[in-house]
Amino acid sequence: MDILNVLSTRRFREADDLLTFISIYDDDRRTRAFLKLIRSHERQIRGSVCVEGGAGLGIFAAEMARLGARKVYAVEQNPLLARLARLRFQKLPKELSKRIELIEAPLQRFRPPGPIHVLVHELYGQLLYDEDLWTLDHLAFQPDIVLPDGGELRAGIVSSGAYCDRVITAEVVKTLDGVLVSGLFEERLTELRIPILRWNFGAGLQPVDHSFAQRRGDMLCLGLVVRHNKRDICEAGRCPNWAYAWTPRLGNAVSLSFRHSRAGVECSFGWKNL
Ligand SMILES: C[S@@+](CC[C@H](N)C(=O)[O-])C[C@H]1O[C@@H](n2cnc3c(N)ncnc32)[C@H](O)[C@@H]1O
Repeated sequence: MDILNVLSTRRFREADDLLTFISIYDDDRRTRAFLKLIRSHERQIRGSVCVEGGAGLGIFAAEMARLGARKVYAVEQNPLLARLARLRFQKLPKELSKRIELIEAPLQRFRPPGPIHVLVHELYGQLLYDEDLWTLDHLAFQPDIVLPDGGELRAGIVSSGAYCDRVITAEVVKTLDGVLVSGLFEERLTELRIPILRWNFGAGLQPVDHSFAQRRGDMLCLGLVVRHNKRDICEAGRCPNWAYAWTPRLGNAVSLSFRHSRAGVECSFGWKNL
């Protein structure tokens, strides 16, 4: 979905974010994987104070209320999504809605009045850190449990010849040196083998030593894996919300760095030979 007319910067950003985030709800696998993770913590959620950070439509906030949370803060910074979440909560049975409070603010500015036991979030970008995991490294409160608590960016080296078609030809691929392209090819789900970046709540973002020297192929692909307690929860490709990023291979190792700015998180990408 693209916005086609001229709007004020603010109106454009709010509506553009809404249209971007609303499409995650097409990804049933993602939602089911997260609901399964949340339900497996029912014991910790029952009677506790919870937050859904970046609540979107508030599905996970409502689930935590349903599982018996004493109080749930649904924190959402986009006013259009916050309005939709509020409408959803109003339609829930009173017994649930009275325990959910919508906070329309950036999560990093949220200062709860007391301890937070469980924080649920889904702020993962296609390159792991390029959406809003940054926020979880800058919270003003310290949750006891964060769901999920980690993630990886994994790499695969493949031969472009096995993926090219009559539109994305070898010549097209050659023009993309240094360019990371999301969704250039369809994932086969066997590609991702080498972790290159890790994020864990509390430890932040950490590069993983790697070398592609022993791998044959002229194309790199990168894909996100959402993890909790060292186990995979869901991954790019299988959950269509996240596609792989592709780029021609120019070396045996890569570096990725991220910069948080007002406009969002920017990724710098480069090749090196080890
Ligand atoms: C990928 S959606 C996830 C929505 C919902 N938690 C879910 O998983 O179904 C991310 C949501 O977080 C919101 N968001 C992103 N960064 C945020 C921040 N720093 N503070 C509050 N909300 C944020 C976005 O507006 C968006 O609604």
